[in-house]
Amino acid sequence: MNQYRVLVVGMGKRGMHHATTFKSNPKFQVVGICDIDAARLEAAAAKLGNPKTGTDAAALAKELKPDLFCFCTLPNLRLPLIKLGVECGAKLIAFEKPVAMSSAEGLQIKQALDQSGVKAVVSHQHRYGEHYKAVKKIVASGALGQVHTVYGTATGWAAHMLSHLIDYTCWFNDYTDAAWVMAQAAGRGKLADLHTSPDYISGVAHFNNGVRGIYDCGAGAPDVPEVPYWWRKCRIGAQGSEGFAEVMTGGGWRAVTKSGGYQTGEGGMNYDYDMPPYVQEMADWLDDDKQVHPCCFANAYKGFEMMAGFYRSVAEGGQIALPLTTGADEIALLKEKVPAKKVILTLGESAKEYGTTA
Ligand SMILES: NC(=O)c1ccc[n+]([C@@H]2O[C@H](COP(=O)([O-])OP(=O)(O)OC[C@H]3O[C@@H](n4cnc5c(N)ncnc54)[C@H](O)[C@@H]3O)[C@@H](O)[C@H]2O)c1
Repeated sequence: MNQYRVLVVGMGKRGMHHATTFKSNPKFQVVGICDIDAARLEAAAAKLGNPKTGTDAAALAKELKPDLFCFCTLPNLRLPLIKLGVECGAKLIAFEKPVAMSSAEGLQIKQALDQSGVKAVVSHQHRYGEHYKAVKKIVASGALGQVHTVYGTATGWAAHMLSHLIDYTCWFNDYTDAAWVMAQAAGRGKLADLHTSPDYISGVAHFNNGVRGIYDCGAGAPDVPEVPYWWRKCRIGAQGSEGFAEVMTGGGWRAVTKSGGYQTGEGGMNYDYDMPPYVQEMADWLDDDKQVHPCCFANAYKGFEMMAGFYRSVAEGGQIALPLTTGADEIALLKEKVPAKKVILTLGESAKEYGTTA
């Protein structure tokens, strides 16, 4: 059996999720962990069987030459670690959403991966939930008739949530390319956050197969009253000529179809449940080039371009044609253009996150 040596950089919440899941899968061996915070690193090492540790990712990567280079840093650090993963000879790079904070950086990441041929996956792992899989199964079965609309809403802000919403709607639509996107945004509070975003963004996408995508993310998004936990108030679904099916990230799914009537089921987003298959499918792809990981970079990049296109539309106005052919700094554009008016909340409990009142 091939066993793959893994280095994990960034031992925060997501780094620990990744490292513990790699550790418990016999296809992987965690040979090193890295964080700039020495105390955090020490605590992580004790839980992970004391692999090699270091505070300098480049030095550790070059020494260990891992098969799999995983990094789980905040969104302000992407391109240098992609380059490091390529340079240290990794066969696969696993990293966190969002792909990048600007299309300029995203394009360079794409070039570095395309030129090197290194495989990469981006962590849109909610899809492994039973409730997500149930909805995908219904959509893929044809029971909705001709699918014409996919949609996603979340009360959390865009750098946290929009990438997830877009990715799962694209999955429901078989990753058909988008032809164009258009969006509006409100609220400057989260432009100061490390997960830099407008407080609220609302946009539409037109896919090449005629399907329409509708997205609502942040302070002005609608409530998902079925779900109590604020961060998991996400509704993602598809509508067709013969019914609809939708998943609520924090709990359950429902569908109404011509042939099946009203259907509903359980399921809730759970890292412990979602991470093992996400990690196993990295081993499957490393073992066999044909078993492309469903969270492969090529899929994630489509959603990333849509998100960057939304931001450009906010700044420039009008529709943005995809694919993007030139890079820009969308965050700088948003900082210039999002109006100074306070965002209007749709949900009282959002006040604690957005610092304003409903
Ligand atoms: N896929 C999901 O469901 C999901 C959920 C939460 C967060 N995320 C994403 O995961 C990423 C990380 O989020 P988090 O909540 O784990 O953050 P975190 O702040 O808990 O952890 C980040 C870690 O990276 C370390 N770090 C920063 N710079 C470093 C460097 N140069 N070298 C080594 N270590 C460095 C920090 O010290 C920190 O320990 C973000 O992009 C976030 O959007 C994804």
